[in-house]
Amino acid sequence: MKGVVLAGGLGTRLYPLTKITNKHLLPVYNRPMITYPVECLVKAGVTDILVVTGGNNPGDFLRLLGNGREFGVDHINYAYQEGEGGIADALSLAEAHANKGPICVVLGDNIIEKNIKDAVDSYRSQGSGAKILLKEVPDPTRFGVPALEGEKVLYILEKPSNPPSSFAVTGIYMFDSQVFDFIKGLTPSERGELEITDVNNLYINQGAMTWSMLDGWWTDAGTFDSLLKASNLVAQGGANKI
Ligand code: G1P
Repeated sequence: MKGVVLAGGLGTRLYPLTKITNKHLLPVYNRPMITYPVECLVKAGVTDILVVTGGNNPGDFLRLLGNGREFGVDHINYAYQEGEGGIADALSLAEAHANKGPICVVLGDNIIEKNIKDAVDSYRSQGSGAKILLKEVPDPTRFGVPALEGEKVLYILEKPSNPPSSFAVTGIYMFDSQVFDFIKGLTPSERGELEITDVNNLYINQGAMTWSMLDGWWTDAGTFDSLLKASNLVAQGGANKI
């Protein structure tokens, strides 16, 4: 399985920090943000990785990550997302990298305490379709939120004002090669972006979506509060622990 780290966008919620650099290069405690999702994939045994960058500082990703060896990556590729088309738009650039095989996608601002090895292994045996990881959160209105019925996910709402559950869909997704056809059929949401939630709902409608609960803490780092929280969580005990 190949890996994709999505680190495009302009990070407007972190302005003016993002006036001078890309959000995913900002420090989270003692390391640039993007090194955490890269390490997350490597620790799950996914070492052929595409980094999708964007914005004004794409060359800095190359300076930081280089050929990836320092971070345990066997093979690293880079792609550049023009503009701010959203997560699914950034993911569309990974089609050649995926080469018709399954992919594990991690958003460049998502940081976790433990590891996703079990989920990746269970998706490998699933063989096709998609898998998402869920985490209970105090503020589900900030995220994609699933409606659950037992083991089944019925649908996902993006940033709902009346969340159907107290879980967030984390920014860690596993997809088969259908994902690129699904993205081609999407239209932009109200915020003008191609939404990963729309992709996930297409898998759900097909009956091809599974989910697991993520173990340990999880946070995004795309707002001032979550960036501070991420730094504190990492400082207190580290991330991507085996
Ligand atoms: C994105 C997704 C959302 C998901 C979140 C996880 O939100 O759209 O469904 O729950 O990442 O970090 P965004 O960061 O674009 O607001």
